[in-house]
Amino acid sequence: MIDKINQLVGLIEEFAPRTAAEVEEFRIKILGKKGELNAIMEEFKKVAPEMKRELGQRINQLKNLAQERIAELKNNLAQSASAVSSVEDMSRPGSCGTLGSRHPISIVRNEICDIFSRLGYTVAEGPEIEDDWHVFSALNFPPEHPARDMQDTFFIEKNPDILLRTHTSSIQVRTMERQRPPIRVVCPGRVFRNEAISYRAHCIFHQVEGLYIDENVSFADLKQSILYFAKEMFGEKATIRLRPSYFPFTEPSAEVDVSCNLCGGKGCNVCKGTGWLEIMGCGMVDPNVLEANGIDSNKYSGFAFGMGVERIAMLKFGVKDLRLYFENDVRFLRQFDSAL
Ligand code: DAH
Repeated sequence: MIDKINQLVGLIEEFAPRTAAEVEEFRIKILGKKGELNAIMEEFKKVAPEMKRELGQRINQLKNLAQERIAELKNNLAQSASAVSSVEDMSRPGSCGTLGSRHPISIVRNEICDIFSRLGYTVAEGPEIEDDWHVFSALNFPPEHPARDMQDTFFIEKNPDILLRTHTSSIQVRTMERQRPPIRVVCPGRVFRNEAISYRAHCIFHQVEGLYIDENVSFADLKQSILYFAKEMFGEKATIRLRPSYFPFTEPSAEVDVSCNLCGGKGCNVCKGTGWLEIMGCGMVDPNVLEANGIDSNKYSGFAFGMGVERIAMLKFGVKDLRLYFENDVRFLRQFDSAL
């Protein structure tokens, strides 16, 4: 009986079929009702009790080997069959990979830049790792300003300070360094702030900064440019209002609200019943900033504005939790395909 088992093991190991039919035939021969294994089992019944233990184990091993080998051979043949057929049939339609979609933040950033490019703005970019001069000093931040504190800013090195930019206003400075007025740029980019992550704040987000410098630029120009932007972004019915505010780099400064596009200004839970949503900061460039960057503030004036891309995207798409933009869950991202 042992010899018979060994012989079958050898047979199974050497078996090299070319077709699935051969495998099936082999399966019936070994594992079928009238197959070799059942024949052995019949014989096993007559074996002396002291031999049963060892022989039983060998028979089990044989059975497992046969089952595994047959499954493996079937699988191999099925795989090579599909590989062959896909190569052979050149007329089959190609398999189409799933197309990705643009990230909603990219969609909105591009749209902001497009809107201002229609007003003659070009796009400028700058480094994410910055020095104190470009992020704070050249923008008229007083030495004791809280943004210069570790609690608000990620510092990489101290004295001299190297840090992650907290706003894209730093690109204003870099633009004024390289270019003489007239200047008209929008500056998109990623910014970093030492903030706890929640549904409305993140330590990494995106801004678009705008800067316009020329002779006789007035606050009325600023207001009209922003109104144009709001209508292009949120629809013809959109209106804006400006509230007085403070930024070190602009004087006067204002915060811009747009009429809530969800309730049409009547008041809802998104606009907290006010009918207005805050979208950006802006103002006339402080003469100190022009002078710090070598521009004659008696001859030139200008305005600047800065907005958060996530915030605009939340308002535009009705997204209530900002963290969704960073998780890259395809079920969320897929919804913006059509917004392209
Ligand atoms: N840099 C400001 C911030 O990050 C936004 C801003 C406000 C930019 C007013 C401006 C401006 O250019 O004039 O909060």
